[in-house]
Amino acid sequence: MGKQVKDYSQYFVAPDLKQAKKRGKEDVQVLQFEQIPENMRSVGKGKKYMIETYGCQMNVHDSETIAGILEEMSYTRTNREEEADIILLNTCAIRENAEDKVFGELGRLKQLKLENPDLILGVCGCMSQEEVVVNRILQSYQHVDLVFGTHNIHRLPVLLQNALFSKEMVIEVWSKEGDVVENMPKVREDGLRAWVNIMYGCDKFCTYCIVPYTRGKERSRRPEDVLNEIRELARKGYQEVTLLGQNVNAYGKDFEDIHYTFAHLMDDVRKIGIPRVRFTTSHPRDFDDHLVEVLAKRGNLVEHIHLPVQSGSSEVLKLMARKYTREQYLELVRKIKEAIPDVVLTTDIIVGFPGETDEQFEETLSLVKEVEYDSAFTFIYSPREGTPAAKMKDDVPMEVKKARLQRLNELQNEISRRKNEALRGKIVEVLVEGESKKNPDVLSGRTRTNKLVNFIGPKHLIGKMVHVRIDEPQTWTLKGVWVDQESRVVGG
Ligand code: SAH
Ligand code: SF4
Ligand code: F3S
Repeated sequence: MGKQVKDYSQYFVAPDLKQAKKRGKEDVQVLQFEQIPENMRSVGKGKKYMIETYGCQMNVHDSETIAGILEEMSYTRTNREEEADIILLNTCAIRENAEDKVFGELGRLKQLKLENPDLILGVCGCMSQEEVVVNRILQSYQHVDLVFGTHNIHRLPVLLQNALFSKEMVIEVWSKEGDVVENMPKVREDGLRAWVNIMYGCDKFCTYCIVPYTRGKERSRRPEDVLNEIRELARKGYQEVTLLGQNVNAYGKDFEDIHYTFAHLMDDVRKIGIPRVRFTTSHPRDFDDHLVEVLAKRGNLVEHIHLPVQSGSSEVLKLMARKYTREQYLELVRKIKEAIPDVVLTTDIIVGFPGETDEQFEETLSLVKEVEYDSAFTFIYSPREGTPAAKMKDDVPMEVKKARLQRLNELQNEISRRKNEALRGKIVEVLVEGESKKNPDVLSGRTRTNKLVNFIGPKHLIGKMVHVRIDEPQTWTLKGVWVDQESRVVGG
């Protein structure tokens, strides 16, 4: 039979806005990851792990930490579930369809667990921070062995040990404000591009969003820890880093002993010998003039800014608690374009927020036309339990929401195509990532502005910066010709 169900209420609390907003009184602690005890370092000898990652870059990078911990316990990676001894689903709670996918996968994996009872099946990431999810797993997915939260990753060695020797489901989800744990082991999947956390959590509480509840309060890593990690990556030959945070512009606001902001951090990262530095995600509200000034110095700071707008209507923005108006956003865009004329802007947009009228949606379209984003992630609003928007009256029918999404996508695609068309004949710098997924004879890489470029060239270019002349721009990708050789010939 299934595992015994204990009273788990001591391990988690529901996402609760009032509770969460009281945060900030407890100091953030910087903890050092404790070395994995000697007796646990060989637990995984001869065994394999597999991690399925959903959601944003934060989760992708957490999976690299989880992999680092498991490899220090002697587990090796596999991508084949039938040979895995541990399967972890690192989940995302941002929209309902993200959660549905995970429950579908858990249902499917039941069969595998029946065939191989020794398999450890675990759920981590943002969904495990939700009480409703944990209850549903307890009720209907008793074949799950382990559930741990986003604040509990460093506890994995102990939790896994418990799961291996216990007949009960092991659950540990701290609903705390969050600490910063340094020196966690990491297995970076890619030797070229690396993710670097600069801060954790989010205090913005946009009314539709679950992240402030699943990731805890905003807390920044100390500048020296971030800078040392980037210097180390540069020494190891990494070509690109992406600085990560839900709201990177809030970096440093929690420091009490120093005045050091995201702009200061970028200015210091600029002096490190790593060819490209990106960041995600910046909130328009905290994007200050100093940051614009630093980004305009360019060098390794690339001319691409992802600047989620969410809506073009000030009224909707107010209901979303984004804390800026359409006009303030457009003014920021104007400043950025003035300082960095060739900047590529991308965004996130939600359509069908509760009560969104046709006119308000039209304002989103007109803003998109005015800003001319190179690309956009567009979503239909999805109510998340425990968030304020979930209680708002939502009288926009689903067909209307879908039709709005389609109109928005058509408009954006037309702009994307036009923007890419402007690159025809231009020579761009490409960091070559590898063979194209569709055709091994084609190499693919990205421009400084994060556009995907495909071209034909020798394999030894993989991992290098090369120049490509764009001769076939498309809506989402650019095709071109490798020109470094040509220029050598021309140059004698
Ligand atoms: N911290 C980032 C975004 C994190 S989530 C920021 O503030 O920009 C990524 C995107 O998912 C958001 O920008 C938003 O467009 C979308 N999103 C978040 N919650 C959503 C919800 N409940 N329904 C639909 N889309 C949502
Ligand atoms: Fe969510 Fe808003 Fe925080 Fe982004 S800034 S993670 S959208 S609450
Ligand atoms: Fe999803 Fe959590 Fe990221 S909800 S988008 S994985 S922070």
